[in-house]
Amino acid sequence: MIKSPRGTRDLLPPDTALWNFVEAAVRDVFRAYNFHEIRTPIFESTELFARGVGEETDIVAKEMFTWEDRGRAESDKGQSLTLRPENTAGVVRAYIEHKLWDRGLNKLFYIGPQFRRERPQKGRYRQFYQIGAEVIGPVSAGSQSPARDAEILELLATLLDRVGITNWTLELNSVGCPADRARFSEALRQALAPVVGKMCTDCQRRAVTNPLRVFDCKVPEDQPIIETLPTINEFLDDACRVHYEEVKSILDAVAIPYVENKRLVRGLDYYTRTAFEFTHGALGAQNAILGGGRYDGLSEALGGPAAPGIGFAIGEDRLVLSLTASAESVVRKPDVYIAPLGPGMNREAARVARELRRHDLVVDLGDESFRLKKSFEAADKMGARFILIVGENEVAAGAFALKNLASGEQETVPRAELAQRLLRK
Ligand code: HAM
Repeated sequence: MIKSPRGTRDLLPPDTALWNFVEAAVRDVFRAYNFHEIRTPIFESTELFARGVGEETDIVAKEMFTWEDRGRAESDKGQSLTLRPENTAGVVRAYIEHKLWDRGLNKLFYIGPQFRRERPQKGRYRQFYQIGAEVIGPVSAGSQSPARDAEILELLATLLDRVGITNWTLELNSVGCPADRARFSEALRQALAPVVGKMCTDCQRRAVTNPLRVFDCKVPEDQPIIETLPTINEFLDDACRVHYEEVKSILDAVAIPYVENKRLVRGLDYYTRTAFEFTHGALGAQNAILGGGRYDGLSEALGGPAAPGIGFAIGEDRLVLSLTASAESVVRKPDVYIAPLGPGMNREAARVARELRRHDLVVDLGDESFRLKKSFEAADKMGARFILIVGENEVAAGAFALKNLASGEQETVPRAELAQRLLRK
């Protein structure tokens, strides 16, 4: 038997109803905050992620699905392509490529699959889905303002509330600007020098190439050493400190609770200033339901104009795992199952079904070859509210036998009144 590749999975009904419920709710929330949808390609040139996310991050160094294009055209040959491991770099590339600032498009959202070659476990997959949003634009549009950071965080609290997730924790930090980080990296290098020999090989490499990434280390034995390292907040300059204080004071004003986590640096290199994660207890080891932050230099790093930005991505798989609502509670069962009874009745049933569906009723059908018992079993199995018998006598009389499958009550309803009867709860 051919199975789906490691780390991928089929999303089946009724679970897909939960996914649709989540996506419909977040689209409503995005609309209220004036975000518009963007869809970027699922693969991009590898260079985009190397430059955008950072060569030394786990994502780029170990987790990307990358291949060399074997296209026929000379221009395709040898081009390195990668399945997107995240969507921020793609959105910023599109922002630059289409000069989106000219169109005043600075609040964008996306919903779609991402790919990382990680070790699969509960809540961690190789193909997973993100619901994300980015606010990006010229300084003149206020995109560097702490008000945007607070708006994004308040949107997230609203969004989680809307889908019924309550027990979240917002962890907040500021990772400063590049100059702060250069000073911090130097201090980290010095602090790591006497102890790095006792750390894992990844950390030994990171200590030389990009010491900040030491904070991404998950090796339990390294954690006591990481606990003793300096933290970024000691190195923030005045402007970054003021920015961070302002984000927190707006959050206080709109009553969004948060905890400060000085060791939160996020696993992507593009972050500046505000960095955050929302965690949820029910998720176990992979407890980050979403992450995000500010990336004021990303557009320039990708060859674009100055365009400060901030955004987030929710792990949709993890969001669905933390829902208390069940798939059964959001799935819409058939209002009526039509049982055509006897030769020629498929045609009549098709006509009745067409009439009823015009009224936004959920209708399913059997087949004229089915015995009544088989139709009842099929209607029961799909959880239909009513069964409607369409036989020769009913068609001739212009009225049909309609049976409520829960109560067992049966009535005869004239054809013209059927839809109204079924729309009544
Ligand atoms: P990230 O923290 O790498 O950030 O991913 C965001 C979220 O995606 C995580 O918190 C997690 O819920 C989910 N996620 C990541 N990897 C997996 C996986 N293998 N399986 C299941 N879920 C996963 C970003 O991707 C940034 N682009 C977010 C951002 C947008 N920052 C600014 N704008």
